[in-house]
Amino acid sequence: MTLYKAVKCIRNFFSPTETRKLSNLRMLAEFQFKDYRLTWPQMNWWYDQSFNAYLQQFGEKNGFNTHRKWMLWQLIRLVENVPGDTAECGVYKGASSWLICAAIRNHKQFKRVHHLFDSYEGLSEPSSIDGQHWSAGDLSFAEKQVLNTLGAFKRLIISHKGWIPERFDDVKNSFFSFVHVDVDLYQPTKDSIEFFYDRISPGGLFLCDDYGFTTCPGVTRAVDEYLSDKPEKMISLDAGGGFFIKGVNTGNAIIYSNGDKNE
Ligand SMILES: C[S@@+](CC[C@H](N)C(=O)[O-])C[C@H]1O[C@@H](n2cnc3c(N)ncnc32)[C@H](O)[C@@H]1O
Repeated sequence: MTLYKAVKCIRNFFSPTETRKLSNLRMLAEFQFKDYRLTWPQMNWWYDQSFNAYLQQFGEKNGFNTHRKWMLWQLIRLVENVPGDTAECGVYKGASSWLICAAIRNHKQFKRVHHLFDSYEGLSEPSSIDGQHWSAGDLSFAEKQVLNTLGAFKRLIISHKGWIPERFDDVKNSFFSFVHVDVDLYQPTKDSIEFFYDRISPGGLFLCDDYGFTTCPGVTRAVDEYLSDKPEKMISLDAGGGFFIKGVNTGNAIIYSNGDKNE
């Protein structure tokens, strides 16, 4: 940081306005993490009291996952009139399952069940495709605590504790309106999309939390490989994750070109 910027930063700190605070954030970000991209804070959903109370309940309000939670909360509205149960592969503390249950409780047209799939022993063994970020056993959390947290929805929930895909057979005759996959690794993501794809109703939605993350290369690969000969492709979300809607043809990802014919 140059001396000029440092002085400006101190001035902004001691006599702040909204613009100056944002300017400071920008300078700090450039200094600490060159490629970090900031986001405007003037968005209605940041100040949605009920959603903030939900985030607070899971200790997420000032964390890195709020955008993806908000996307889930919005995307599940798309399946209100689509028949089928819901499922989450990779439940952890139940934060996303909580949102799914809160949504389907209001889907009056259908009586849905929400299926939870997790080892509750954390991640399985990463393979070489998964890079270095994760280790076996990361993100373990007790099933009992999750069921306790989701207690308000106990009539909607069935928990299938075990390593993916061992318990998928429990739901082999079910069909789904919304499937959330969040297991961070190649193999369980591959197992999940292979099992659920044919069981998602037309118009149903497949959302994958880890899609597009540099920390989860195996997930992006597993999903793209599976969809390579399917009409649906992933829509990659700006804050991480991606989704497709069953039966909706999706163009391949476009590589940006500035239109120069000599390129
Ligand atoms: C990132 S956390 C899930 C977070 C959760 N979806 C949320 O929104 O808070 C990943 C979860 O996947 C589970 N998991 C990972 N690999 C698994 C596997 N092969 N079989 C079963 N569960 C697995 C872990 O136990 C962990 O709870």
